Amino acid sequence: MHFTLQPVKGEGFIDRQELLEEMVSELMDTHSTTGYALYGKRRIGKTSILKEVQRRLESEHKTVTVYFSVWDLVEFSVVELCQRLSMEIIDAYRPHLGLRYKAKELIQTPLTMLRKLLDSSELKIVYSELEFLISLNLKKDIDKNLLVENTFGLPEKLAKSTDTKCVLMIDKFSTISELKSDNSKVGEAIIKKIRTIFEDWERTTLCISGSIKSTMKLAVLSSASPFYRQLIIKEVKPFEREHTKELLSRDLGITEEGIDEIHIFSAGIPFYIQFIGKMLERRRSVTLEVIKEIEEEFLREEGDILFKEEFENLSSKERLIAINIAKGRHTPKEIADAVQDKISNVNRFLMYLEEKGCVLRREKGYYMMEDPVFERWLKER
Ligand SMILES: Nc1ncnc2c1ncn2[C@@H]1O[C@H](COP(=O)(O)OP(=O)(O)OP(=O)(O)O)[C@@H](O)[C@H]1O
Ligand SMILES: [Mg+2]
Repeated sequence: MHFTLQPVKGEGFIDRQELLEEMVSELMDTHSTTGYALYGKRRIGKTSILKEVQRRLESEHKTVTVYFSVWDLVEFSVVELCQRLSMEIIDAYRPHLGLRYKAKELIQTPLTMLRKLLDSSELKIVYSELEFLISLNLKKDIDKNLLVENTFGLPEKLAKSTDTKCVLMIDKFSTISELKSDNSKVGEAIIKKIRTIFEDWERTTLCISGSIKSTMKLAVLSSASPFYRQLIIKEVKPFEREHTKELLSRDLGITEEGIDEIHIFSAGIPFYIQFIGKMLERRRSVTLEVIKEIEEEFLREEGDILFKEEFENLSSKERLIAINIAKGRHTPKEIADAVQDKISNVNRFLMYLEEKGCVLRREKGYYMMEDPVFERWLKER
């Protein structure tokens, strides 16, 4: 296995054994509809966990897993979400249905042809869905409610007719709340709608993941929120030192103090460990000096690519506050003095930054950056 910046599964996957075992045993249980909500910092390994769980469930013939990321949407519309998700679900069921063609090919087929292609008994199950999907391409005003109902009713229907359980994994779930339709935001209503459908499911379950804590809270944690108590909430945490070591020593001859250095620099966030590892692979020797040099190079050259956009998406006030936290000012008073503003204003912007997953409130009145590598980049720029 070599260092990679892509989500990992199988051989390359490190740590998280306890969580994986729990998830797999719950999800493969055909009598359970309990699902999971994973949350954690950016680049901490949420997608990797979903993909590894999916891989482990592959050998279970009674479960069918569908993975879908909301970030893969291009137009970011409700129609696109429903259309693409429906196709993923149908494709995941292809082996159970004996479908020879991919959903994408089928929905490009004229309806008259489709009937000819889908003439066996199993295929009749999906005919109406395919017909509906094809009609989406033609019609302009679509009943969004019906569309969402059809899409999220599909896994349940297929699971029932094939005597399986469907595990629906939706990555970056909280961004559904930002979905648009005819230029107005309908995301919140859609999340509520999904919940209503979810309550009636007997053979389908949901695994969701998201990065921004407060949005996850909105979707999952508070009692007023749609998915309260129906999903088990798990925070994905940084690697412990032993796992940083495991990842680094597989491909590098590295000393204990070298591991310490990278573990502290990366704060145990696997993405940075993989990245530094990848840069070190090109070097002949991996001394402490070389590691420190590479870390600087990473911040200088890769930091701009990774963090600039994230930084520029903040308002000017938020940026100023983030820079001050990075410079070591952690209380609203210290920050207010530095930016010459009222504490109440600073508090308001700290709240926005927290909602964006940029800043973390460690305890009352004490704030820090969520991502220590981002923090260091901010400090040094
Ligand atoms: N268990 C793991 N073992 C080894 N490497 C991992 C593990 N989990 C994540 N990584 C590495 O960390 C990086 C980020 O992983 P992943 O994309 O799964 O994180 P994420 O939390 O989904 O990120 P994002 O917030 O960008 O969606 C990748 O380079 C991946 O290879
Ligand atoms: Mg991800």
